[in-house]
Amino acid sequence: MFGETNTYAHIVAARPNFIKAAPLIEELSNKGYNNIIIHTNQHYDYKMSKIFFQELDIPEPNYHLGIKSGTHAQQTGNSLIEIEKVLLKKQPKALIVYGDVNSTLAGALAAVKLHIPIFHIESGCRSFDKKMPEEINRILIDNISDLLFCTEQSACDNLINEGFNKNKIKLVGNTAIDTLYKVNLNKTINKDYYLCTLHRPFNVDNKDILHKILSKLNKLDKKITIPAHPRLKNNLNHTYNNIEFIEPLGYLDFINYLKCSKGAISDSGGIQCEASFLNVPLLTLRPTTEHLVTLERGNTLVNIDKDFIFQKTQHTDTPFIWDGNTSKRIVNIIESYDTQNS
Ligand code: UD1
Ligand code: UDP
Repeated sequence: MFGETNTYAHIVAARPNFIKAAPLIEELSNKGYNNIIIHTNQHYDYKMSKIFFQELDIPEPNYHLGIKSGTHAQQTGNSLIEIEKVLLKKQPKALIVYGDVNSTLAGALAAVKLHIPIFHIESGCRSFDKKMPEEINRILIDNISDLLFCTEQSACDNLINEGFNKNKIKLVGNTAIDTLYKVNLNKTINKDYYLCTLHRPFNVDNKDILHKILSKLNKLDKKITIPAHPRLKNNLNHTYNNIEFIEPLGYLDFINYLKCSKGAISDSGGIQCEASFLNVPLLTLRPTTEHLVTLERGNTLVNIDKDFIFQKTQHTDTPFIWDGNTSKRIVNIIESYDTQNS
């Protein structure tokens, strides 16, 4: 029988998950709940994983599942098998899953068949591009989740348009922004540069396309710093005199680099939110975004054939309820859900 403990299980797997999970795990723990942290190890390099646990004070995972890299089926299927074993053994009250990576889907699938309630953090995001694996993951996860926590109104609207029960949809804000509120951003970097990250398969997996993008960046009016995601590094076969490639950065250094840059170029989901929150102009090298709110705040969608022109942004307000209290709101909602469903 599930749900008899005061324990919440969390699936974490990849860099953005750690950043979104940290404040919620802390808030649950402050309120006296137990957390079981299940790390599938989809990301496993020190700079892609452990450094975030150290910098953000996330407790050491209770389980490392050792899934690592592979095809979508391998990552999802192997995670599903291993997560099910842990859930059967630990019988948590609910499973909390973050974002849209393959391990998030595996966690939700394992839980739903065991009748464990699923709470989806960053629900309702849609790029409307089913060629993105994340889009498939998000749609499936939302359809089997019991509480759908959204970062912005457009995500709630997507869920309403798809016919979800309104009582499940909760506009709470962004836990990754809670994490941002907690960090000290007083350091300065006295360089004149743009920051860039790229990891989407459609930008980096084809060496010719990647070379075309990097050649264009190489001609911009400032030096470019690229903390290179392993997926980008694996496909790099040229050098560029205006681009400095460095190892992936830990969260604290990365946010500092972002804040001190004159602008950023990226295909990341999370960096769109962080850049718009920090008033850093961003060029997003993607045809669509699942964070519409950022388009009013310095984020511009570009492609390789467009001019790369940064939008000026100097907002004094923050996007609605990106106020550092999202995790508190989530825990309050979870508590009243538990009371109603016990
Ligand atoms: C994954 C997520 C993506 C998310 C991104 C965050 C899926 C389908 N993709 O993409 O949604 O935006 O994480 O960064 O879940 N590698 C290493 N060391 C690591 C991790 C990966 O060398 O620690 C290399 C491996 O060669 C691997 C490749 O990077 O094959 C891609 O890793 P993978 O986790 O499959 O996908 P990401 O591109 O990181
Ligand atoms: N990030 C980081 N170091 C880096 C690049 C990114 O700490 O070198 C952080 C960034 O602040 C953001 C998250 O990683 O919170 C985004 O991860 P990524 O772009 O890999 O994934 P996505 O958000 O696209 O799923």
